[in-house]
Amino acid sequence: MTLIISLVLVLILVIWFPASLRQREKRFYVITGALSLVTFFLTAFRFSAEAYGLPAFIDQVLSVFTKGTLCGALFYVVMLAGALPDRDALRKKVIPCRKQLSILAGFLAMGHGFGYGYRYFPLLLEGMEELRLSVFWACLCSLLLLCLLMPLWVTSFLFIRRKMNPKTWKNIQRAAYVFYALIYLHILLFRFHAVQTGQRDAAISIILYTILFCLYGALRLNRMAVRTQKEYLLLPVQLITICLVALVTGYCVCSVSSASQGKQGQTQGSVAADVSAEKEEGALDVPGEAEAGLSAEESGMQGSFEQEGSSEKEGSAQGSSEKDGFVQGSSGKEGSVQGSSEKDGLGQGSSEKESSAQASSPAGGTSATPAWQDGTYQGSALGYNGKLKVSVTVEDGRITDLTLKSHVEDEPYVSRAVKGVFAAILENNQPEADAVSTATTTSEALVLAVQNALSKSIGQ
Ligand code: HEM
Repeated sequence: MTLIISLVLVLILVIWFPASLRQREKRFYVITGALSLVTFFLTAFRFSAEAYGLPAFIDQVLSVFTKGTLCGALFYVVMLAGALPDRDALRKKVIPCRKQLSILAGFLAMGHGFGYGYRYFPLLLEGMEELRLSVFWACLCSLLLLCLLMPLWVTSFLFIRRKMNPKTWKNIQRAAYVFYALIYLHILLFRFHAVQTGQRDAAISIILYTILFCLYGALRLNRMAVRTQKEYLLLPVQLITICLVALVTGYCVCSVSSASQGKQGQTQGSVAADVSAEKEEGALDVPGEAEAGLSAEESGMQGSFEQEGSSEKEGSAQGSSEKDGFVQGSSGKEGSVQGSSEKDGLGQGSSEKESSAQASSPAGGTSATPAWQDGTYQGSALGYNGKLKVSVTVEDGRITDLTLKSHVEDEPYVSRAVKGVFAAILENNQPEADAVSTATTTSEALVLAVQNALSKSIGQ
């Protein structure tokens, strides 16, 4: 929906205000530059209106900037105009203000790209296991996008172009084709997991972007075929385009329908049910095996059970928590939920920004509880975008504090998941919880990370 709205906004600008765009270009640049700066901060620090109790539609409006939809629409109109036939009305409107549109798109792309880059690029240095594989490749793609954007954007300014050799300028601008292809690729990769897990909006978005980019590709090849008098290529190009769109659409539709069938077949709140079964088999006693057989695997999730510096009793030297801090700093948010047993003397540690929930914990928990040793333990699991890490505190054999130490998940989903999952775990004193709807993968990962942490508390 935001894509359609963005395209309509750009078309309105191009069709009704081309003259003011050319005559008052500096004013447009200043406004868009300011918007880009705001976009950077909103994206980098995961602003969510919902998390601050503001109306949810604000997030929808902001996502046009933060998620790159508006800059994508601007770039799309620019690239489409170049591929349309010479006599096309839209082409005639766009070509005179193509330079201004590219510069505006570049401004917005920087806000979006540097904003996400601030969150994701440091993880590239941490290694592949910190990110979901598709997200890892998406990040590499995005890095290349930013590298290409810079020369393309700078050389769009007339005063720079005038100082350049026309041939050099043209050669640099040829990189725009690679740039456009990378835009599509990074969207596909970033949203791949969402499509795989059957998210309808992600599937629709991928189908729409595929139609738009295939249409562009077909028009561009048509133009080349006509210019080089190779009209016999027109039919194969059209057929290949239709096949590509059909392939991607088919994959998206199948993913969504198989995911929804899978959900119907499962007992509701699959994490809880499956984890209970697991517990009966005593699998939690063996670190590294706790995840085996979890239904979460069906949605492509794997728990990560690396041992490095992971179990720390309170008061002992902090080995892994230093490492944990690296995303914490970038997100600026932690989720912390504490149990409210009388002994706890609660209130410690939650900053105002943390999403916290109080849970009353009946003594003893719901069922046979494994013998957890007192202490604070670190656990991790693969979330929606990458690894998330939690810290679990056990006092007198009960779970008394849960903190999300670091993550690369998106707001407001992660706040919702932390609230629901941590409160349920504390209330039942069991590492199991129903997945919070709209944040299923993150919820499941939180449960697995808590299990991972607790598995280290057994037999120490
Ligand atoms: C520099 C040029 C870039 C352009 C033109 C661009 C454009 C786009 C577009 C059009 C979308 C799809 C938005 C939608 O769903 O409607 C998108 C999504 C996304 N982009 Fe970029 N992008 C750029 C760079 C980057 C960079 C450097 C990153 C850094 C990691 C990045 C991260 C993302 C992410 C994470 C999404 C998915 C957002 C979501 O749906 O939750 N992009 N981008």
